[in-house]
Amino acid sequence: MIRATLCLATILLGTGCLLPASDGGQDAGPIEATALPDGGQATWYRDVLPVSQARCQGCHTTGGIAPFSMETYAAVKNRFAQIANAVSSRRMPPWMPGESCGMQYVGSRRLSQAEIDVFTAWAAGGGAEGNPADAPAAIKQDALDWIDATVTPASSYTPSATRTDDYHCFLVDPNVTTARSVIGYEVVPGQRSQVHHVLIYAVDKADALAKDNAEAGEGWTCFGASGINNADLIGGWVPGTSNVRYPAGTGIPLAAGKVFAMQIHYNTSAGTRLPDTTTVKLQYARAAVIPATLIPILDYTFSIPPNAMGYTPLGHPKDFPNTLGFDARVWGVLPHMHQKGKRIAITGPRGCMVDIPQWDFHWQQQYFFTAPQLVKKLEKVTLTCTWDNPTTRYVTWGEGTDDEMCLAYLYATL
Ligand code: HEC
Repeated sequence: MIRATLCLATILLGTGCLLPASDGGQDAGPIEATALPDGGQATWYRDVLPVSQARCQGCHTTGGIAPFSMETYAAVKNRFAQIANAVSSRRMPPWMPGESCGMQYVGSRRLSQAEIDVFTAWAAGGGAEGNPADAPAAIKQDALDWIDATVTPASSYTPSATRTDDYHCFLVDPNVTTARSVIGYEVVPGQRSQVHHVLIYAVDKADALAKDNAEAGEGWTCFGASGINNADLIGGWVPGTSNVRYPAGTGIPLAAGKVFAMQIHYNTSAGTRLPDTTTVKLQYARAAVIPATLIPILDYTFSIPPNAMGYTPLGHPKDFPNTLGFDARVWGVLPHMHQKGKRIAITGPRGCMVDIPQWDFHWQQQYFFTAPQLVKKLEKVTLTCTWDNPTTRYVTWGEGTDDEMCLAYLYATL
């Protein structure tokens, strides 16, 4: 706890924290899938398309991050068996938190059984098209009520030709002249097929300029986080998210003069490498909000032995007592490990916050609870990390691709 307390102290003092960070984001909310009409054959237009709109098209859209569109019957008619299989085995939509945790999340991508049944019934009936007249209206893009700043890197960046996973940071300047509270934001990827996640850190301009100038071209190479000390995470974005709203009445303070280091994970396994310019739109509070902090809890002391599979360090779950000096409300969590991560679990005094049994580095985000969890003074939050290390060397904490982390941010307020 000592380490986390120190770090927390630096964050509360506004000086940031020497820590890398992770992902965030929310997606469209669940829809209530209705049971199939009695006896009727499930059809694309009437039964499947509404679920596809709400649950799949965030990614399965023309030019989107998923390998095929799920917008038209022509695009799916030869895939109905694969689609039903992906859904009933819960490979799709990607959603990492395990059910056993019992926590409910805002914007969960986990399908209800009724939604799954729509796909399986449709496939069982041979993937029928049905009547176009039954098609639901196109869904309207969920938009923030207002936008205060739109920021973008100075020029485009083309992802690395030698790595399919390229992590690149950009300096973007929101020109904040008075202190603000970020209550929401929208990320508009330039190349939806390539942009796998975006993390936004508030940093000092001089630090970001130094990084930017040290490397030719737009931005700089960065893996775990921004590569800048004293970087405060503001938020993150993953595909399938149209925009992010922080829990109502809360927001993240942004000091005057700060700029953003925007980390983008590009994945070019589809083969194309296109110049990208990703835009971030920010929404600031118009009335007083409760300031939220992203409080890191972490274990940086581990050393994963060579060839250790399913390795959990002694002393995990590791305890982090609330030393904030007040009873805190935790609204969400943002777990982070690198590529050897296998499982990460965070539990509060009132129950499991998140348990990701099959960690996947490529699908990271922040998870907001449908109701905040109370963590009273000195009550504990615990963190457990488990790794698979197939290499012949010890793996320890670090920023590099081959290093590891055991870290979570708690979105907390008074
Ligand atoms: C958050 C983004 C996202 C959402 C939402 C999503 N997918 Fe996917 N889907 C992907 C990506 C990326 C791939 C390719 C890589 C992979 O398989 O993980 C994929 C691959 C697939 C595949 C082929 C691979 C397989 O596992 O069979 C199917 C089928 C599929 N998705 C169906 C669906 C369906 C049906 C939905 C909605 C119920 C859905 N997906 C929602 C991102 C998404």
